[in-house]
Amino acid sequence: MNAVPPPNRAAIDALLAALPADLVLTATEDLGRFSRDWSGDYHGRPLAVARPRDTAEVSLVLQHCHRLRIPVVPQGGLTGLVGGGVPADKAELVLSLERMNKVRRVDPFDFAMIVEAGCVLEVAKQAADAAGCLLPITFGAQGSCRIGGNVATNAGGFNVLRYGMTRDLVLGLEVVLADGRIWNGLKLLRKDNRGYDLKQMFIGSEGTLGVVTAAALKLFPRPEQVETALVALSSVPDAIAFYAHVRAACSDLATAFELLMRRTIDVSLTADERLADPFPEKFPVYVLLELSCGAGIDLRALLEGALVSAGDMLLDAVIASSQEQAARLWRLRETMVEKQGGGEPYLRTDVSLPISQIPAFVAAVETTMAEGFPQSGINIYGHIGDGNLHINVIPPRGLEREARAALIHDAETTLFGVLDQFGGSISAEHGIGRAKRPAFLERVDEVSLDIMMRLKSVLDPDGILSAGRLLPSP
Ligand code: LAC
Ligand code: ZN
Repeated sequence: MNAVPPPNRAAIDALLAALPADLVLTATEDLGRFSRDWSGDYHGRPLAVARPRDTAEVSLVLQHCHRLRIPVVPQGGLTGLVGGGVPADKAELVLSLERMNKVRRVDPFDFAMIVEAGCVLEVAKQAADAAGCLLPITFGAQGSCRIGGNVATNAGGFNVLRYGMTRDLVLGLEVVLADGRIWNGLKLLRKDNRGYDLKQMFIGSEGTLGVVTAAALKLFPRPEQVETALVALSSVPDAIAFYAHVRAACSDLATAFELLMRRTIDVSLTADERLADPFPEKFPVYVLLELSCGAGIDLRALLEGALVSAGDMLLDAVIASSQEQAARLWRLRETMVEKQGGGEPYLRTDVSLPISQIPAFVAAVETTMAEGFPQSGINIYGHIGDGNLHINVIPPRGLEREARAALIHDAETTLFGVLDQFGGSISAEHGIGRAKRPAFLERVDEVSLDIMMRLKSVLDPDGILSAGRLLPSP
């Protein structure tokens, strides 16, 4: 289904004639990698791909697209999981930021860096590390995703409980507006109360209000010590109680606190035979825990003490004795994320709710989904320190395409119905994009939607940016 009407041929020809030839790819064989996201669930051929090398070139592309009313989708690493960066088939120009990939500056005294939108997150993290600093945005896709996408989607990840979402880490932005004007908000100021904080409008706007070209990001001292442990528990309520215990017993030094149900561990073990079951026995619930800090604290002793004082709450526990062992524990989590669908589409969600509600919510979800979808696998895992769970529904193998899509749709309706009763959010970290737009528009209140639509009409009156994502089509 194409939510974006294609522009006429004359407009496309006029755009291509107006732009320098080395700015644009048009040959079919060059367009493939811009046509499909990481999951493979979304695909669509671009009209063409513009690959600007600097902010002025982004501005040039948008000036012409604005004049000619050509729909544009900004594109980063295509790992967003909600179809935001994939073009509507033959209807949108892809504006790829991949050639704007420089780290412009790292300043260990400002504890800040300025990075271009096309810089891969991992590369930005390495540049921070080389200066003795930490850029704390951390998640599985960090080797592919790009800073512009992280900002546009307000990316979350493993370390949010300590450092906050991407929004909390942005000091300033440079953004090109839909009409090509450049907004320079690339500040390094930690405190600045001159009027509205305009950058916040663009963070999490999913490419609908402007194109982020560079970001000033907060850095932190690089942790000198990291301790990783996997613990086994008998229930989700115990995992929540253990979280409160760890915060208090470890001076709030947790940087990750990931819930894994037994099934999620089984998915990883089946997918990769080199992975071993972490304990001799199987347990219902696991928590992957990471603490980190600088020098001068005996972090290992702190962790060991917390595990001992947790008492009967813990059924078993292992502390990684090397980086390699820690990496192996993380692979138990990450392999499942990659392999859970067995190469076929499934329902992905990234819901959130108050932490105290998680046990009752998980119990309700397990009962409701087992009744309604007895043949499907339900994967429950996530960042419970942030009240953020991924609840994924994997249809049985061998279903034909339409039946599978219908099941995914029904499962989402049922799951979000349960979530509504707990006052939760249907998107804690991946955003709305195309995947969650119907569910979002069903739930968003009138006043919020009115404000969002008015912002959109001020910044992008012709609706050329990321049409068909997040907001209703005009
Ligand atoms: C994760 C991503 C998918 O937590 O949000 O694995
Ligand atoms: Zn996540």
